[in-house]
Amino acid sequence: MSGSTNRRKLEHLDIVRGDDASDRCKAYFDRIQLRHRALPEVNLRDIDPSVELMGKRLSFPLLISSMTGGDHDALRKVNRNLAIAAEVTQVGMGVGSQRVMFSEPAARKSFAIRQHAPQTLLFANLGAIQLNNGCDACHCREAVELVEADALFLHLNPLQEAIQPEGDTNFHGLTARIGEVSREIDAPVVIKEVGAGISGADAEQLLGEGIRYIDVAGSGGTSWSRIEAHRAPAGQADLGVLFQDWGIPTPVALRQLNHLSPGVTLFASGGIRDGIDMIKAIVLGARLCGIARDFIQPALLSPEAVIERIEALRREFVTAMFLLGIQSLPDLIQRPDLILNDVDSRL
Ligand SMILES: Cc1cc2nc3c(=O)[nH]c(=O)nc-3n(C[C@H](O)[C@H](O)[C@H](O)COP(=O)(O)O)c2cc1C
Repeated sequence: MSGSTNRRKLEHLDIVRGDDASDRCKAYFDRIQLRHRALPEVNLRDIDPSVELMGKRLSFPLLISSMTGGDHDALRKVNRNLAIAAEVTQVGMGVGSQRVMFSEPAARKSFAIRQHAPQTLLFANLGAIQLNNGCDACHCREAVELVEADALFLHLNPLQEAIQPEGDTNFHGLTARIGEVSREIDAPVVIKEVGAGISGADAEQLLGEGIRYIDVAGSGGTSWSRIEAHRAPAGQADLGVLFQDWGIPTPVALRQLNHLSPGVTLFASGGIRDGIDMIKAIVLGARLCGIARDFIQPALLSPEAVIERIEALRREFVTAMFLLGIQSLPDLIQRPDLILNDVDSRL
């Protein structure tokens, strides 16, 4: 299993870079129009997009979403460059699934990124399905300790597992296992999807187990069904292509979840591609916006290339805040009144 987990992470990076259509570019956020202010009554220079989360202050609500790690120079380089850039720009960062570190000790180094990002909000990552497959609270603690993370992402990926030839598809009893583990470890647990979305029914189940952080990770961006289609045995790619747009679009998932109790913190990811998409996700109730695939190319180049991309996103975000007449971030969260059109009829 060890070598295969590592090889899979490398293959995923190659597929994402080689197949532009693995980004579904559904632009669901483009269907939402915001209420422009001709008289914003704020000074652009005074706008403060910073946000506090889990005891850390971020310069604006951006998360470099969980992607990779493993025993290979390219994987170490991606995580190192992302971590350095996250530290310089004060944004959050997640590492990819750490399952590989339990079977392949040489992979551990790629996850030990705290040295590059001493102040950064960092997230460890494991597949929740592994809790039905031999992983327990000890593994989760070890993953958090290696990253020296502030929190742990447990990802849900039933679509990917169903399409993957070697997929783990026994999701029976998983909600309760997630609850048990989250109560046994000290770090906060954030449940995320990987691009097919979390529904209102899923969220209710998670809340019942005491989960308080959810990243909806909806459809519209990276499609794991399509990525896995590339890895399917000859003649079996059709299933992954058929399901490539399956899932709940990110803005729809946010709307389904934003009535949940005020104690729940929502993150958004999946198809967020610029600062305006980020603003719309925040208006719909998210406190943090994750972007994954757009960081791969710059991360393979240098920390500076990643920083450049983050700074562009920040300028876009601040410009949109200005044009909405919003001076500080808390005034932007969950503000459906800032939406001009009838979103329900458009999404
Ligand atoms: C190359 C790549 C690898 C990923 N690996 C993981 C992973 O290991 N764990 C995880 O929770 N999500 C993983 N994701 C999913 C992202 O964190 C994110 O939720 C999803 O891709 C949607 O964001 P995007 O449309 O901006 O890519 C990965 C995404 C990409 C592009």
